[in-house]
Amino acid sequence: MSDFQRACALSDLPDEGALGVQVAGVPVAVVRAGGEVFALHDVCSHEEVPLSEGEIYDHTVECWLHGSCFDLRTGKPTGPPASKPVATYPVKIDGDDVLIALT
Ligand code: FES
Repeated sequence: MSDFQRACALSDLPDEGALGVQVAGVPVAVVRAGGEVFALHDVCSHEEVPLSEGEIYDHTVECWLHGSCFDLRTGKPTGPPASKPVATYPVKIDGDDVLIALT
């Protein structure tokens, strides 16, 4: 069983936007896109910059540094220069709480 922990308030998440948070010391990008909420490791797999500061569109987040996009559902890059995926985390919504499981 995965342990879900509170990441942020749902009401703090912008539409088609992201919030960078720490959950148990792990950087997590919580993203709202297309009416759904996703959670990814908040470090680009190319260089160490936060994905939560990138642009969100078409169920992807675009890294602001070199422009790789990552699919919010799988964490896989959809274009270079990144070639490795970033971790994604299961999300649950409980009232105004966004909960994520790190494992
Ligand atoms: S640091 Fe993200 S694409 Fe280069």
